[in-house]
Amino acid sequence: MSIVKINALTVPDEQREVLEQRFASRAGAVESSDGFEWFELLRPIEGTDQYLVYTRWRSEEDFQAWMEGPMKAAHQGGGDRPKPAASGSQVWSFEVVQQAAPKKA
Ligand code: HEM
Repeated sequence: MSIVKINALTVPDEQREVLEQRFASRAGAVESSDGFEWFELLRPIEGTDQYLVYTRWRSEEDFQAWMEGPMKAAHQGGGDRPKPAASGSQVWSFEVVQQAAPKKA
């Protein structure tokens, strides 16, 4: 089954808008990466103040390949890159053990 990689971002309140804007204009390259299955930017409502960048991949190898290539380009942006909106980040790794989707009507 798939693997999940979550980048947990600590974002000061006054930087939330900036962070969401950056994602709104993200590279959009991850969608074309081999083995990529899903992406979500999760805004915290309750229980944590960390934003989660949720990604799901066919395998660890596919994620590593993205990290070594397209990810770098997607994160570098232009040459005069502004100061990061996040003040900290942490990567969490999971294996999907079970999953379900709605039954087709
Ligand atoms: C130092 C740690 C990181 C920070 C502060 C960070 C922050 C950001 C920001 C602000 C963007 C929006 C585009 C931009 O401004 O570059 C972005 C894009 C993205 N990040 Fe990260 N990121 C980090 C590492 C990671 C890691 C390890 C993952 C994998 C789980 C990840 C997954 C993504 C994805 C999927 C995109 C969208 C790329 C695309 O559209 O092609 N990030 N990240």
